[in-house]
Amino acid sequence: MSDFKIAPSILSADFARLGEEVENVLKAGADIVHFDVMDNHYVPNLTIGPMVCKALRKHGITAPIDVHLMVKPVDRMIADFIEAGATYITFHPEASEHIDRSLQMIRDAGCQAGLVFNPATPLHYLDYVMDKVDMILLMSVNPGFGGQSFIPGTLAKLAEVRKLIDASGQNIRLEVDGGVTVQNIGAIAAAGADTFVAGSAIFNTDDYAATIEKMRAELAK
Ligand code: DX5
Ligand code: ZN
Repeated sequence: MSDFKIAPSILSADFARLGEEVENVLKAGADIVHFDVMDNHYVPNLTIGPMVCKALRKHGITAPIDVHLMVKPVDRMIADFIEAGATYITFHPEASEHIDRSLQMIRDAGCQAGLVFNPATPLHYLDYVMDKVDMILLMSVNPGFGGQSFIPGTLAKLAEVRKLIDASGQNIRLEVDGGVTVQNIGAIAAAGADTFVAGSAIFNTDDYAATIEKMRAELAK
């Protein structure tokens, strides 16, 4: 496994200078822009929506945008983010009435589809849709806020999902989100993740390039 991707979560960026922050973190070596959408209903926080995604595209951001929907219901937002230029769209299966339909909507539009699992959400939601996902996102914190600590039980769950992906023979990214740091990214990769969301661990440092470089050095070990 060497195709590691680093996806800074812009939740921890300076929203007053968002375009510049996204440009800077991409220049610093990030692969993917992780875009957290919270609705004050599915999760107890309110963030940014499709207009902001569209504005980033208009600003000239061409990197993949990984839209993590923490909203309920999901389908209206899926349609809006397709229109706004999302690359990946992931949602929490328990927030969708029709998981198969929601995944299909994303793929039909040419975007990459994914399911997100909270720390205590069972994996059985994958049972009948393994062939319809391009990404599986495991939350390593309870969703809603940046800057929380990584829940260690996620490592065993990652290993479980890695086995499922390998057994499926499909090309599915395994992303982890919450509390990822330079210190723990190596262990998270060893457990099977290939895509790493990090918000506060990158944006709360002065030198994004140096932090991303440190993360890559841990991944190369
Ligand atoms: C939490 C969000 C995360 C968050 C990660 O609900 O989904 O993407 O921004 O932030 P850190 O890396 O600070 O835990
Ligand atoms: Zn997220």
